[in-house]
Amino acid sequence: MKIGAKILRVKSCSSTNDLAKELAISGEKEGTAVISDEQTKGRGMKGRSWYSAPKKGLYLSVILRPTHSNLSLLPLVAGLAVIDAVFDSVGIRVRLKWPNDLIWGKKKLGGILCEGGFLGNKVNYVILGIGLNMNHGRDDFPEEIRHQATSLKLITKEDMDENIILGNLWLALNHWYGQFLLGEGKKIVSIFKENSILPLGKEITVSTERGEVSGIYRGIDSQGGLILESRGERRTFFSAEIKTMKNNKKEE
Ligand code: BTN
Repeated sequence: MKIGAKILRVKSCSSTNDLAKELAISGEKEGTAVISDEQTKGRGMKGRSWYSAPKKGLYLSVILRPTHSNLSLLPLVAGLAVIDAVFDSVGIRVRLKWPNDLIWGKKKLGGILCEGGFLGNKVNYVILGIGLNMNHGRDDFPEEIRHQATSLKLITKEDMDENIILGNLWLALNHWYGQFLLGEGKKIVSIFKENSILPLGKEITVSTERGEVSGIYRGIDSQGGLILESRGERRTFFSAEIKTMKNNKKEE
């Protein structure tokens, strides 16, 4: 089934990822999407909360049942789909920060949260959660994130029409997920890199489960992992977050 062909729309829920997960466990087909006007316990990466003001943002989760297991590419697939949908809807080029951030300037416009469920060692489902700040004014963000968050309305000074963005998002998600299913990992990674805020050779620090590692960014491998050269050795990270990026001439 095509992504977005079936949509469950709710006024409020704890997290669209949780609702989609329940549906996936009870057998709902691939492609079904859940959208909520607000989330009372929206989640971000690393257990952080995702602030989800009523009717200001897009809070969306899609059920996928991928037939191959290169799952680390899925946040990249979703990121590419969102930046294409935003470009087709409002004409601005949002950038990507590996693995899951949607960035405008130095501010965060949205994020992706992929969560999977397994049956034995086989992937049963993946929930692709997308949060996009659409119609937030500055005061709609809590004070502690105001300096680092932005919305499409703040960028374009225009009210966003969710239906237009959604229409383009379904097209883009079907396109990029189709590429994923066809095994076009190299193409996905290459276009992700073209749209990344991170230039090759940049000094960065990533935060991993085992602590922080600093090194030089050497690209993204065909599985979607971040390649870092640290102390002369190349290491690939799949579950990490870029903490700081050094301006190579002088510290930011
Ligand atoms: C991040 O940047 O840390 C990821 C944010 C993902 C937020 C979306 S909103 C829809 C879906 N439901 C959630 O609880 N989280 C994701």
